[in-house]
Amino acid sequence: MTLWRDFLTNDKKLIHKWKHYFPIYEHHLSRFTNQDVVLFEIGCGGGGSLQLWKRFLGPHARILGIDINPACRSFEEDQIAIAIGDQSDCDFLQKIINTTGAPDIVIDDGSHVMEHVNKSFSFLYPRVSRNGVYLVEDMHTSYWEEFGGGVRREGTFIEKCKSLIDELNADHTRAAIKPTDFTHTTLSMHFYDSVVVFEKGRHTVKRALAIGQPSEIYRTDRMPEKSP
Ligand SMILES: C[S@@+](CC[C@H](N)C(=O)[O-])C[C@H]1O[C@@H](n2cnc3c(N)ncnc32)[C@H](O)[C@@H]1O
Repeated sequence: MTLWRDFLTNDKKLIHKWKHYFPIYEHHLSRFTNQDVVLFEIGCGGGGSLQLWKRFLGPHARILGIDINPACRSFEEDQIAIAIGDQSDCDFLQKIINTTGAPDIVIDDGSHVMEHVNKSFSFLYPRVSRNGVYLVEDMHTSYWEEFGGGVRREGTFIEKCKSLIDELNADHTRAAIKPTDFTHTTLSMHFYDSVVVFEKGRHTVKRALAIGQPSEIYRTDRMPEKSP
C-alpha cells in the first residue's frame, strides 16, 4: 500500500498533513522500509502520523515522537516511544539521543517557529546518521511574521537554507567559502512547496571523470577545471 493510500484510509489516530507531502515522503523515505531505523518526529499532534511511520517503515523501525504536550505520552505503543519537552532545548534533545542513538530520519513538524526550527536543526542535523534524512515541514511559516518569518528576513529557516546551498558547494568556491561538516556530510538539498529535505552521505574525493573513447568534438582538455 502506498503511504498516500494508507493516509486516505486511516481510521486510527488522527493524522494532520498537507496532501502534497506524500510523494515527498515516499521519494525520500522508501529506502528505509523494513530497515532497523530510528525516526524522530518532532510534533505528535493526534498521534496518527507516528502510527503511519510505523506501518510504512515496518517491524524493525523505532519511532520517537517529540512533543511539548504531556498528553502525547498516551501515544506510546509497541515501536513508538514519546519524549516530552521543547524541540529547541538541546539538553533535552541530547538526552533523547543518549537513549535512542543517532536518528536516521528526522521529521520536524513541531512548532514551525523559526527559532525552534533553527535550534533543532543546528543540534540534530550533525547527529543524524551518516546516510540519514532530515525533513522540515510547513516552511511557509518562514514567510509569516507570527512564526518569526518574513520574506527574505534574516534568521528564517529558508534564508538559512539559501546559505547552506553555498556551504554545500563550498569545495567549488575557490576558497571563498570554507568547507564545513555540512559540506562533507550532505549529499543533497531538496526544496518543495513548504518542505525542505536534506540527504546525508559521505563524499569521496570529488573529481570529474571522462571515460570512453577520446572525442574531437568534445575535448576534455579544453574544459574548465572541475575539481577545486
Ligand atoms: C502540526 S502538529 C503535529 C502533527 C502531526 N505530526 C501529524 O502529522 O499529524 C504540531 C505539534 O507540535 C507540538 N509542539 C508545538 N511547539 C512545540 C515545541 N516547542 N516543542 C515540541 N513540540 C511542540 C504541538 O504540541 C503539536 O502536537
